[in-house]
Amino acid sequence: MTRNVISVTHDFGHLKRIGIGASWFVKVMGGTKEEQEIAYAAGLLHDIVRPASEKVCHAEASAKESEKILSKLRLDKDTKNLIVQAIKDHRLPVKWVSPLHQSVYLADKILEQMGAFVAFRRCYYVGECQDYKGVEMEEAFRKHFAYRMDRIKKTDFPKSVRRLLDYQWKWLQDFSVLLNKREPWAVRMSSHMFEAAMKRIHLEDAIRSYKPDSKDAERYRKEAMDYLEGKKFGEFEKLVNP
Ligand SMILES: [Fe+2]
Ligand SMILES: [Fe+2]
Repeated sequence: MTRNVISVTHDFGHLKRIGIGASWFVKVMGGTKEEQEIAYAAGLLHDIVRPASEKVCHAEASAKESEKILSKLRLDKDTKNLIVQAIKDHRLPVKWVSPLHQSVYLADKILEQMGAFVAFRRCYYVGECQDYKGVEMEEAFRKHFAYRMDRIKKTDFPKSVRRLLDYQWKWLQDFSVLLNKREPWAVRMSSHMFEAAMKRIHLEDAIRSYKPDSKDAERYRKEAMDYLEGKKFGEFEKLVNP
């Protein structure tokens, strides 16, 4: 698998999962087969320019780079524009015009920036993020979780995905509270991911090698692994109102 040497949390594994996730959101929100395919392509390209920092708008940069790549493909102009639009608007809320337009945002936020998986992914990201160099590890976790949670407003999501959003949000919220309380298992788990980032161990391998030391730790690991293995979509579908 191709590895993003700049940001492991945004390597091909992430791009592929967002392709699958964006396409899935379009499907469950009633989009056509063609729209699902366009969302898949947008997901694959959405973080193609992704430094390990929040100081630049990587969505703009990825959209520009995607335009260059797409110009070499025999695709009609409208399709290319739809792909680029979904990439450009995946980072921050805008006035989305369709499920396809919002699909990359939905997959990125609901599937990878919430849920049990984010507890692992975010702690790894903090370890590789340039913005936290020199900041004490637990302090960096608390700061980054707070920064991210602050930026997500439930009102930025369509009502049809609200129950799924609540389900995924709870994992994130609970873990954030545990980190703030310095719950020992949560601190050990986050340290494991932080250290994996220092050693540049692949994200998925780092989760696989994590040894849960409490019931809750095991619950988080199982949920994250089930998501990574694509086992959650059936359950997620029941949480979406068409
Ligand atoms: Fe992104
Ligand atoms: Fe992303």
